[in-house]
Amino acid sequence: MSTDFSGISARYEHDSLIQKSAAEKLFGLLAINKADDVLDLGCGTGNLTRKLRGMTEGRVVGVDPSEGMIREAASQAGNDISHMVIGAEDLAFDDEFDVILCNSAFQWFGKPQKALANCCNALRKGGRMGIQAPARMNYCPNFISAIEAVACATGTKEIFAGFRPPWFFLETADEYGAIFKEAGFSVPFARIEELTTLHSAAEVMTIFESGAAAGYLNQEFYEIRLDAAYCDEFRRIVKDTFTGQGAENGKVELLFNRIYLVAVKG
Ligand SMILES: C[S@@+](CC[C@H](N)C(=O)[O-])C[C@H]1O[C@@H](n2cnc3c(N)ncnc32)[C@H](O)[C@@H]1O
Repeated sequence: MSTDFSGISARYEHDSLIQKSAAEKLFGLLAINKADDVLDLGCGTGNLTRKLRGMTEGRVVGVDPSEGMIREAASQAGNDISHMVIGAEDLAFDDEFDVILCNSAFQWFGKPQKALANCCNALRKGGRMGIQAPARMNYCPNFISAIEAVACATGTKEIFAGFRPPWFFLETADEYGAIFKEAGFSVPFARIEELTTLHSAAEVMTIFESGAAAGYLNQEFYEIRLDAAYCDEFRRIVKDTFTGQGAENGKVELLFNRIYLVAVKG
């Protein structure tokens, strides 16, 4: 089952600063041609799908399992972009695309092997798939230390013990490459990069809310019932941790480990 991002779809476009900036490099790696048919997998509110629309005269399709995300994406797009509510594990395209772009969504795939087999099938021979996603269990040390504080605090530790992380992280670029190769791709480029940006603590909280919170504060991933008091206390602890991470000028150095990978269908 995929995470429902519908709850954050309305503000995602505005808040997703990190996903937007990380996508720039992925566009560079994929070098989209004027005639490419392109699938934006896990398109969210469609910011990147609309950018793709300006890069090719071919077909542009955005898919995402979250109805709320697709509703928002469709409301902002013209009829030269098609959308579908569907997750990577259920894709049924056959030899139809030259490029699959998957930005900041791969970590959410419940069944990555099945998803990659579907992606390989969706591409034409020689077609390429590019992903950018947080990598490693310690994907963002700032977030992880905030979560460690939640896990220890009296007001949150009992319920947090019932949290089952939904994400899929691998530790090395070779491990990411291996699962693409198993699905039938060759992998000309795979690298994990440490990206550091400077933000106010409030901005770091906004970035947390635009992605990670959809997992950490989602009933679907708890074996124990969540309540409003827990969510409020969770947010307070996370916010205080980010404030404590600020330097004298209040700026927080936010570090993300990110995998960039380009795979080609042989
Ligand atoms: C952080 S957003 C990224 C959205 C967009 N690609 C961007 O870069 O702005 C992650 C997206 O992945 C989607 N997602 C979650 N599980 C998925 C799955 N199994 N297959 C495809 N997309 C999925 C979510 O619904 C969400 O819209």
